[in-house]
Amino acid sequence: MPLEFQPSANIARMKESATLAVAAKARALKAAGLAIIDLGAGEPDFDTPAFIREAAVAAMNAGATRYTATEGILPLRDAIAADANRRLAHGAPITAAEVVVSSGSKQSLYNACVCCFGPGDEVLIPTPAWTSYYEMVELARAVSVPVFGEPANDLKVTADQLRAAATPRTKGLMLNSPSNPTGAVYTRDELAAILELAAELGWWVLADEIYLRIAYEGGAQSVLEVATARDNLIVINGVAKAYAMTGWRIGWTIAPLAVSKAMTAFQSHTTSNPAAVSQHAALAALARTEEADAVVGEMVRAFRARRDAVVAALAAFPSVRYVHPAGAFYVYINVAGFRGAADAGAAFAAAVLEEHQVAVVPGNAFLTPDWIRASYATTEAIAVDGITRIARCLTGG
Ligand SMILES: Cc1ncc(COP(=O)(O)O)c(C=O)c1O
Repeated sequence: MPLEFQPSANIARMKESATLAVAAKARALKAAGLAIIDLGAGEPDFDTPAFIREAAVAAMNAGATRYTATEGILPLRDAIAADANRRLAHGAPITAAEVVVSSGSKQSLYNACVCCFGPGDEVLIPTPAWTSYYEMVELARAVSVPVFGEPANDLKVTADQLRAAATPRTKGLMLNSPSNPTGAVYTRDELAAILELAAELGWWVLADEIYLRIAYEGGAQSVLEVATARDNLIVINGVAKAYAMTGWRIGWTIAPLAVSKAMTAFQSHTTSNPAAVSQHAALAALARTEEADAVVGEMVRAFRARRDAVVAALAAFPSVRYVHPAGAFYVYINVAGFRGAADAGAAFAAAVLEEHQVAVVPGNAFLTPDWIRASYATTEAIAVDGITRIARCLTGG
């Protein structure tokens, strides 16, 4: 008799990534010949810079085709440590031993969740947050506890809100600045207050800094620039967004030695090392700082110009409320009350796709159904056209 698949208890509650689902739907509509304006994408529209691609080809031809150390090649871990040390404000310099390289920062985050959290542990998630945080915490059999930010504070949470949400079972929190989905950036003082609370209450802080270099108003602060100690800090970063390297799948953690060892052991049983050739590409991105700074600077300037153009387009619709987009490449727009729907974001996303051919991500993916996320990681003209259609759909114009 054929075996009928019953999802195991591990994944019974898991939902498919809503952001990836939107991307797949937009791709399918485009493939069917429809002129879709895709503002659903969570990835830069730039190609990986040429010097990085060339370094990968050279490494591959020089034999970088075999297994590497599970935690990643030493030159890359050295380069990651050196990069982080440029921001570090307190304590001994970060060494390669504190770095574990994984197949994307998504895997780094998952490694950290599995190793630091377990059954019964509660993990605070400033919300709205990237959809996978909730699932990863639950897959680690811990409990994700959303803590909602206020619109007046650009949907960021305060240390006081986190303290109010804490219980004796709270084991840690996720931090993401600049934020996906809102584009909000935490100030130095906001980070300092949160880090102080986490240190006081003995929480792990998982700081996802994947958008750190994509910030427009004086730059975003790393927790490494603010924290006075690192013993409860796990910093997650990767090459995907800043270096336009989403497909290469390289991310990493910087964590205390014991945590790094545990994550390496866990990774050794799941995926082993990330792709050798991708590690060499990431090494070029991290170690060749002059070339990298030039191309990253150029891409960030382009994102900034699009951000400015999108904000200017929204200014023509004063009733449209959105979070001030200070970083990343998203604008988070309030659609509460849209056509009286209970899930306004989902209703709006369906309507704007069907009636205006614009793909966006409904806010329910980020536990805030009154909102939608639009990405401006596309040309300025497309971003402005898409945002204008969104505003028209919302205001009935
Ligand atoms: C907040 C956040 N963290 C992590 C990731 C995953 O990045 P990577 O491609 O390095 O796995 C994303 C990708 O969308 C993201 O938005």
